[in-house]
Amino acid sequence: MTHTPISSPGFGTYDLHGESGVTAVRTALDVGYRHVDTARMYENEAVVGEALARSDVPREEVFVATKVGHFTEPNLSPEYIRESVVESRENLGIETIDLLYVHWPYSYEAEAHLPTLNELVRDGWVRHLGVSNFTPPMLDETRALSDDPVFALQVEMHPLLQQEELVAYADEHDLTLVAYSPLAQGEVFNLPQLCDIAEKHDVSPAQVSLAWLSTKDVVPIPKASSEAHVRDNFAATDLELDDEDIARIDAIDREKRLEDEEFVDW
Ligand SMILES: NC(=O)c1ccc[n+]([C@@H]2O[C@H](COP(=O)([O-])OP(=O)(O)OC[C@H]3O[C@@H](n4cnc5c(N)ncnc54)[C@H](OP(=O)(O)O)[C@@H]3O)[C@@H](O)[C@H]2O)c1
Repeated sequence: MTHTPISSPGFGTYDLHGESGVTAVRTALDVGYRHVDTARMYENEAVVGEALARSDVPREEVFVATKVGHFTEPNLSPEYIRESVVESRENLGIETIDLLYVHWPYSYEAEAHLPTLNELVRDGWVRHLGVSNFTPPMLDETRALSDDPVFALQVEMHPLLQQEELVAYADEHDLTLVAYSPLAQGEVFNLPQLCDIAEKHDVSPAQVSLAWLSTKDVVPIPKASSEAHVRDNFAATDLELDDEDIARIDAIDREKRLEDEEFVDW
């Protein structure tokens, strides 16, 4: 099945703060990224908002994603979700959030929280609903009870965590899979397979990781602070891996999960 694509790659913003954060997001927009990923928990929505306001790129050309409900935040409730979204819109300086994810499923209860999430879509405050760190059974329940389609699933994915089951799920159920930590925060740079393929194409291992994710119809959201990294990652859109490259990365059987096991159920 084909699903509505989200501009790829997206720009991850975890840990980008202050003026240097605004510069990084503006650089990303200048370079060509048209999808920015933030979250209430990152405490940097205002940084993204400032970059959007100061950028020459029109707001309507940028797909803005944020998230509600992290395990570091209070329990989810209808009131909390609504307040969080009011603040996100203010911080980001936008009327409509293009994609609102439920960040983690901890205190999420589909029956209790979906009416509010669906209401936010009806009110025009949110364009699409997404979920992050959900398992297939959790997705099944949300898809069954939601008035709106689940537009995207965001999970950790990179060559050391290949998420075959979720790739198949996304394809079958027409939702976009978004890969966070697509460089495994640097862990993939030392993989001999990625280094060889990078050398063969005269590109960086970061680009190989991002291009491999794109071959799976997955949208990576690499985070970068320096202009060189911001540009390097965007240039992955020009890299075409061949079948042999893809098969070599697919065959990597070492697994490395960055998210704390205690919190992860997928
Ligand atoms: N939904 C969730 O629960 C969740 C969880 C984790 C992350 N995320 C999202 O996913 C985004 C990305 O994940 P992440 O930040 O964990 O990790 P990542 O994107 O895999 O890696 C970021 C690290 O790689 C470095 N880097 C970036 N591009 C590089 C390049 N071309 N060459 C060499 N080094 C490079 C960055 O350095 P510099 O900063 O120095 O450039 C940074 O240290 C986050 O920012 C956030 O938006 C979501």
